[in-house]
Amino acid sequence: MGYNGSYLGPTLRVHRGDDVTVTVSNNLSADTTVHWHGLLVPGELDGSPHQTISPGETWRPTLPIRQPAATLFYHSHAHGRTAEQVYAGLAGLLFVTDEEEQGLGLPSDYGVDDLPILIQDRQFVDGRLVLPAGMMVALDGRRGNVILVNGAYNPRADVPRSLVRLRLVNGSNARTYDLSFSDGRAFYWIGTEGGLLEKSVELQSLTLASGQRAEILVDFSDGKPVSLVSAPDQSTLRMHGMGMMHRHEASENNAGNETVLTFSPRLASSKRGSTTLPLLLASRAVPNPATVVARRRLVLNMRLGGMMDSDEEPLTINHRRFDMDRIDEEVELGAVEIWKVSGQKMAHPFHIHGVHFDVLSRDGEEPDLLDQGPRDTIVVDEPVELLIRFDQPASKAPFLFHCHILEHEDEGMMGQFSVT
Ligand code: C2O
Ligand code: CU
Ligand code: CU
Repeated sequence: MGYNGSYLGPTLRVHRGDDVTVTVSNNLSADTTVHWHGLLVPGELDGSPHQTISPGETWRPTLPIRQPAATLFYHSHAHGRTAEQVYAGLAGLLFVTDEEEQGLGLPSDYGVDDLPILIQDRQFVDGRLVLPAGMMVALDGRRGNVILVNGAYNPRADVPRSLVRLRLVNGSNARTYDLSFSDGRAFYWIGTEGGLLEKSVELQSLTLASGQRAEILVDFSDGKPVSLVSAPDQSTLRMHGMGMMHRHEASENNAGNETVLTFSPRLASSKRGSTTLPLLLASRAVPNPATVVARRRLVLNMRLGGMMDSDEEPLTINHRRFDMDRIDEEVELGAVEIWKVSGQKMAHPFHIHGVHFDVLSRDGEEPDLLDQGPRDTIVVDEPVELLIRFDQPASKAPFLFHCHILEHEDEGMMGQFSVT
């Protein structure tokens, strides 16, 4: 499945201040939706199961673009079918640009020194894409034996011998990537899901869970070929043992690294191509924690016995399975709140629609270096406290919050909230 083609869809580039009308016609034989993940628009434009497009129908939302430059994506959010439709190809990238970002002189020549990198793992048997099924798939999420970038197998990119911007998007159903370069080179982290960081951060590795995005700058001016690689998947259910391995232990053991994408820096550096990194990127008003008006507590529950046991659902939030007809939380428009969220049995990428948030604490302590920035998806295991301002109305249709392991979402680890 794809948008305007057979797998994935076009990159949509939109500018802050514009009102963008998108015509979405459903030529599939099943219901679908298109959710703009990370876009700050009112509930009725969000593309959730409340805006289902039936086969043969057209949905034509006009999206007011009113947020800072960022790398977003869009994907199916069909009720109970998100995992299978995204797996089959219903996803694409959505870039927001603005004047501030354009004024920074960051690499921005699309496909040349500003590369979209949508990473997905898929299962192939005899060269055919297959949809894994079964009880373990519901618990662990669909994981593949092949890593694709922008739908391409064994991908390579020719890049200029200069600083190149990579927009990394984890569009996998369940897998987390622990990304680094094959020669151990450092790179600069410049943006999260919600947009640019205040200052770049020099890193040698970066973790991206399903739904998370990061923008990085890499210096290819030495002209040497190098690969983006990932350490083995450790995001699986802890029953398997692998999931218990500590992040640091695993990255010391480079042996099992898988290649994600190979770069050949053989293009001449363009006139605009630079090797100088802007020091300050974006400034942003983080809500003052003193203005918090409500605190909420969410637990992503996972009950392994629940698959067999009919009286408790296996995947819930606060022991409630997702129900389209139930509003779980009611939020006041403009309110600042703290949501304390924790998970069970494995690390869950927790996503909230219609907002960007900051991580206030992780496991009762200072957040990790990689928790910073405006976020819309954050890994939850031990409790995290999220500081959130709700600026988008959700009165005509609610927003969702859920685990971004798409199989968990479909099985009910999802809730909804109104903003009025
Ligand atoms: Cu990217 Cu509600 O999802
Ligand atoms: Cu979303
Ligand atoms: Cu989950």
